[in-house]
Amino acid sequence: MNIINDPLALQRTCLNWRSEGLVVGLVPTMGYFHAGHLSLMDYARSRADRLVVSLFVNPTQFGPNEDLSRYPRDPERDAALAREHGVDLLFTPEPGVMYAPDHATWVEVPTLARGLCAASRPVHFRGVATVVSKLFLLTLPGFAVFGEKDFQQLALIRRMVRDLNFPLEVVGRPIVREADGLALSSRNVNLTPEERRAAPAIRQGLLAAADWVRGGVRTSGELTTRLRAFYAERLPMSRLDYAEIVDPDSMEPLAEIPGRALLAVALHMSRARLIDNILLGD
Ligand code: PAJ
Repeated sequence: MNIINDPLALQRTCLNWRSEGLVVGLVPTMGYFHAGHLSLMDYARSRADRLVVSLFVNPTQFGPNEDLSRYPRDPERDAALAREHGVDLLFTPEPGVMYAPDHATWVEVPTLARGLCAASRPVHFRGVATVVSKLFLLTLPGFAVFGEKDFQQLALIRRMVRDLNFPLEVVGRPIVREADGLALSSRNVNLTPEERRAAPAIRQGLLAAADWVRGGVRTSGELTTRLRAFYAERLPMSRLDYAEIVDPDSMEPLAEIPGRALLAVALHMSRARLIDNILLGD
């Protein structure tokens, strides 16, 4: 496995691969790998001639009061795991080489960056769309893989790729969970032991909501009222950021639950904000 931190060296390597007709698979990450990240790599490995993983804690997607400085890091362990999972090239740039001091160009997808996570994280998706665009242009992948855990991110990247004609396929992959149902996240290490014990209730609330829908609940209002009560009882130490039902492609809020709908939640714990989601309906 090759570790590169220079963007132009990465681009040269990937341009060469492309000119040889090799398919590059890209998995963008911020590191501190867990089984969710590794599942994306394994999938990409099975399809790609050359597998590129980026490990970059992208400062522009963190707001001023967010957890950039607390974001967990373990570059050596990450490199070892990447090697074990057959990564050909691990891209680990410093922020200074990704963003020139006078960096001025941003990619925005405003209609997909209004509700859900964007409401409490106003600059987040501009940072994501910009860094992912840069990674696409640096690696020229045939396909890029993202997790459905960050469903809004995935929907926004799909739209950006369509709108800007990036010549690549966006692949979404299922959420990988702990045995007790908690969605894997690099931020789970910031949970207190008590929070960690209670955290499986996040997923249990989503499963209960799916049952309520099967049982005939049809309005988003009733569903979220029930879910709020569920979380207030089972996760009293948390503060619900949002529980919303949206169209899974446009992320527009849905008042009723017709066929396919996404229920997405975010909860603040003392030192971590956790997200999860479930597809409802057919
Ligand atoms: P990061 O949080 O490191 O996640 C990297 C990729 O792993 C994302 O596509 C995310 O959806 C996926 N992922 C995280 N937890 C997962 C889980 N439990 N199951 C399956 N997939 C999971 O998302 C980012 O980084 C950044 O915003 C990035 C796209 C790299 C841009 O900076």
